[in-house]
Amino acid sequence: MVTKVIFTFAIFLFSSLQRTEASSHWSYPDRDLDEAFPNWGGICDTGTRQSPIDLSVSKSLKGVFDELKLDNFNDKQTGVTIVNNGHSIQLANFNNEMEVEGGPLLDDYVVEQIHLHWWSEHTINSVRYPLEAHIVGRNKRYANVTMASNFKDGLTVIAVLYHVSNERNKAIDQIIDYLEEVKEFDKLNQPVRMKNPFVVRELFPKLNGYMTYAGSLTTPSCAEAVTWIVLSETFPVTLKQIDSFKEVQCEEKRTLKNNYRDLQKVNNRPVIVVLPEEKSAAGGANPLQLSVGSLLLVLLVSKFL
Ligand SMILES: *[C@@H]1O[C@H](CO)[C@@H](O)[C@H](O)[C@H]1NC(C)=O
Ligand SMILES: [Zn+2]
Repeated sequence: MVTKVIFTFAIFLFSSLQRTEASSHWSYPDRDLDEAFPNWGGICDTGTRQSPIDLSVSKSLKGVFDELKLDNFNDKQTGVTIVNNGHSIQLANFNNEMEVEGGPLLDDYVVEQIHLHWWSEHTINSVRYPLEAHIVGRNKRYANVTMASNFKDGLTVIAVLYHVSNERNKAIDQIIDYLEEVKEFDKLNQPVRMKNPFVVRELFPKLNGYMTYAGSLTTPSCAEAVTWIVLSETFPVTLKQIDSFKEVQCEEKRTLKNNYRDLQKVNNRPVIVVLPEEKSAAGGANPLQLSVGSLLLVLLVSKFL
């Protein structure tokens, strides 16, 4: 009897260990070896609003929204941590809260973490870029990222794409400076504090319009909770800088040569292109439209009197 109980318990323990292993252990294929992209399971394989996608300008819809606001992005952030989590290089622990609001967003989002993908996950008109930064924001309605990922409006990710250049990107160099300390396999998941203040705005090109659509996280759980905001303007990076990231180890004796997910089906989702704001057009409705609108209202009201 006792042996049977122990045996059953051992089986249970073993299967639950396997389950955690399956859900936490996922990886990118080695594209140099033509490895097939793995099935990550769950909604990653069955979802219909997955990311990344190809952003085709010619197939997108024109949108006009309130101004997209990035609050406190110019602040000097001290004590920012940088970690190799085996899937990316990630920055977190910003002492000054940064917020994203406006644009397509109906709520305020607080920046939780920033991480990088080499090469880019999104393509624009089928063109891939050497690097993509993801600035992940959580809707303040929800207590944490895990909670937020259960809701369609839970998260926003601002994506910055970098193009190949001969000009080194200074903000990216500030991250590369710490790669030596975090890149080895035995340093996995051990955050290091950045010694110098880091200004997140320096990772961005000028705000010159963006494309937005409803999608998912591009890593497991692949939750379909993300309002994507992909900036139209791209920023320079050198291929030599990208080579530094390719040395990051994800497993023993295996480097993370690339960490971008395959393109997903658009499935007729609207992709909205927002052109840069024209300052002269700001400041309210056209007086002609206003008077026509009021006239219609007067006519409608009089009809009901
Ligand atoms: C997230 O918030 C929920 C609700 O407050 C809480 O139950 C849960 O433990 C939190 N999870 C994490 C990872 O902090
Ligand atoms: Zn990402």
